[in-house]
Amino acid sequence: MSVNESARPGIVPNPHISALPIYNAGMNIRLARQLSGHDDIAALASNENPNGCSPKVMEAMASSAFNPSRYSDPACTELRNALSRLLDLPPGQIVVGNGSEEMVAAISRAFLVQGSSALTVTPSFGLHEIEPLAAGARVTKVPMTSDMGFDIPALEAALATGPALFFLPSPSNPVGAALTRGELDRLVAATRPQTLFVLDEAYFEYMEEGQADGMALVRSGNFPSIVLRTFSKAYGLAGLRVGYATCSNPEIARIVAAAKPPFNVNAAAQVAAVAALADQQWMKQSVERTKTERARLARGLDELGVFTASSQTNFLFFRTTLPSEHAAKALLADGIIVKPWREAGYENWVRVTIGTPKQNDRVLASLNHILNGAS
Ligand SMILES: Cc1ncc(COP(=O)(O)O)c(C=O)c1O
Repeated sequence: MSVNESARPGIVPNPHISALPIYNAGMNIRLARQLSGHDDIAALASNENPNGCSPKVMEAMASSAFNPSRYSDPACTELRNALSRLLDLPPGQIVVGNGSEEMVAAISRAFLVQGSSALTVTPSFGLHEIEPLAAGARVTKVPMTSDMGFDIPALEAALATGPALFFLPSPSNPVGAALTRGELDRLVAATRPQTLFVLDEAYFEYMEEGQADGMALVRSGNFPSIVLRTFSKAYGLAGLRVGYATCSNPEIARIVAAAKPPFNVNAAAQVAAVAALADQQWMKQSVERTKTERARLARGLDELGVFTASSQTNFLFFRTTLPSEHAAKALLADGIIVKPWREAGYENWVRVTIGTPKQNDRVLASLNHILNGAS
């Protein structure tokens, strides 16, 4: 909305906010039912966990540990202590957010001012661009390579310009690629002292062994960095909104915490996350099921002649012969929600979350019909 279109003359919005691009959110299930006429919707646009969450989470939320009448703990003490034990990192270096997306916003607010520069990749997780823009920064986006890997030489060159913030998702959303240790080392070496390196590991648990682990970098404490992780994916708590920032020193953590609202993580979410974290066995089994299905869905797409980027996440990113919006619309007619990519250069790419075996079969059958005319 321009200033002239604002509700009342004289009200001037923050121009960085009013000019923001819209976040490309997955379609709501109720709307998908209405539009498709299908009751049984396969919601595969938002990388949620099709296995739900640990039963221990529901037990904890029904117990006296959850008290809706009291304000939640602004410091998330119990959760930070539990994370500290699991990650071998002092609690003073951990900040919990209302989803890791809130940490992306807090970091942008904390370390960017009008005219700062921020660096990320394209195709990208929308908020790695939107939140720096909201803070008034300029955003440079380095494209992934044509075979959908990180373009390390181009990122090294961009890092040499000394951006204030570098948001890098590894594994990448939407592509699925994960940095190797050697690639991370090269990026760290190319980072200038004025740059805060933020590695977003929302899909960390789905990664294969031997890839770069940003937590080792944070733990070492000698490189200014933040690693973001979330309970929304492998732990299945997307609806409760819990994610966290691990910081390479307590001062960075203090500044990130200062940029968030005090009672940002609600009481239900705190209780649920502590219970989810304690049930590592459930999480690991769920991840294994997803990985098995990821390999099967990737094979199925390959057999349909669809080019799919190699993925270390709970989703696949594939290129269709149709504009992505058309492909998404055709899939929706079969009751399947996917995310059509809209960024320039990627308008033929679609991201699909790994669902249950039955949902993945539906995706393959529907795509076979849409792309190859199979009945
Ligand atoms: C790379 C990445 N970072 C952060 C998030 C935000 O996750 P949440 O706010 O649910 O923790 C997502 C969600 O899809 C993501 O893909």
